[in-house]
Amino acid sequence: MAHIFNPENKDKLISDERRRLFKPERLLTAAGLKEGMSVFDVGCGNGFFALPAAKIVGDNGRVFGFDIYQEMLDSLNSRAEESDINNIKTLKVSEEGANLSEINMLKNKEIDFIIMANILHEVPDINNFLKDYLKFLKTGGRLLVIEWRKKETEEGPGLEHRLSPKEVINLMKEQGLKPIYSRVINNNYYLKISEK
Ligand SMILES: C[S@@+](CC[C@H](N)C(=O)[O-])C[C@H]1O[C@@H](n2cnc3c(N)ncnc32)[C@H](O)[C@@H]1O
Repeated sequence: MAHIFNPENKDKLISDERRRLFKPERLLTAAGLKEGMSVFDVGCGNGFFALPAAKIVGDNGRVFGFDIYQEMLDSLNSRAEESDINNIKTLKVSEEGANLSEINMLKNKEIDFIIMANILHEVPDINNFLKDYLKFLKTGGRLLVIEWRKKETEEGPGLEHRLSPKEVINLMKEQGLKPIYSRVINNNYYLKISEK
């Protein structure tokens, strides 16, 4: 069974320590996120990446945050309001994917950048899940995946739930994406960027 995040732990996601480890604004800019872009943050939680993404894309861009828990989306919305950020739309989705009427208002190939941070290992059918979201990605658009490194660490899901970098690369290739960049972020995480 997949390891699903418990919303009771949501404060951990937005700790100062995590911000120091990831430097989310810098990480997203280095990954190619720019002013004016349209972004999906899938498994956005309470907005650790969605909020800095919204700042980077600015008033000419927009961020769609997807999560299976309304509680996480409510927390993201109040944090956006506190910071006077108005370009985020949150959408509650099912575990299976995003075939919801709300996102069908979007056209295929409309999105420039998709963030999937610490979520893929929680998804039961990753290929179908990726397909649902990737159909909205423009040609030349990027997918940023952040995952737990496949080794024992103090925190995080059990080893059996983690995805190795090779598994992530294979998943990307199966979706017709071209892997373009890869790096270890810190002791716990790595990232992979691929292009459509
Ligand atoms: C570990 S948290 C990471 C949140 C955020 N991406 C971050 O890095 O701070 C994983 C999030 O993904 C959400 N999630 C899990 N399965 C999901 C699915 N199938 N579709 C959308 N969101 C999902 C969880 O509810 C949780 O908020």
